Amino acid sequence: MTPEPGIRLRAANPADDGFVIEMARHACVIEDWPLPAPDDDEVLELLPPPGVVPIIAEDQGGVPVGAVWTYHSDPPLRTDADGAPLPELCIGVAPGRRGAGVGGLLLDALFARLAGTVATMCTNVHVRNPAQRLYERKGFRVVGQGNGPLGVAMLKDLR
Ligand SMILES: CC(C)(COP(=O)(O)OP(=O)(O)OC[C@H]1O[C@@H](n2cnc3c(N)ncnc32)[C@H](O)[C@@H]1OP(=O)(O)O)[C@@H](O)C(=O)NCCC(=O)NCCS
Repeated sequence: MTPEPGIRLRAANPADDGFVIEMARHACVIEDWPLPAPDDDEVLELLPPPGVVPIIAEDQGGVPVGAVWTYHSDPPLRTDADGAPLPELCIGVAPGRRGAGVGGLLLDALFARLAGTVATMCTNVHVRNPAQRLYERKGFRVVGQGNGPLGVAMLKDLR
């Protein structure tokens, strides 16, 4: 897919906090379901933990259009062979800017950042979320049941 021209990736700064929360709200729902409140527990769980700096995609005008980061849920979606929780993916692209390659750019940048320090990451995706196709194109594979009856767990090897 040819990405939207002029998209720039950068590290998030404190001024992006509101946008990151907005993207976490979008990551909670599929289709046109209503977004949860910004302080909903489901949203709060997805937010980047201390020390994790999201990657922001912004357009030519400097407007943020998407964000990606990793977080840890409790209980973890998947653990490694030693029982350590695997980092989980959270990604969101603003409605109206989707389907133009921004999500793919963000995933590539996240993989590049984590390679060398993280062996495997994971994600939970709703069975009806078309994001699963993007994840598969980017090397995630389905490994079984995710969160709840409609959740699918996927793993991506980074080494
Ligand atoms: C999933 C998401 C981050 C992908 O970002 P994007 O910029 O649209 O992705 P790209 O343009 O790089 O790739 C397009 C692919 O994304 C997926 N996709 C998911 N939702 C989409 C949407 N509303 N519009 C277009 N593509 C979408 C499809 O797999 C599509 O590939 P396809 O053409 O084979 O169907 C974005 O659609 C989004 O923010 N969705 C809502 C939040 C969400 O579901 N987050 C993931 C939670 S697990």
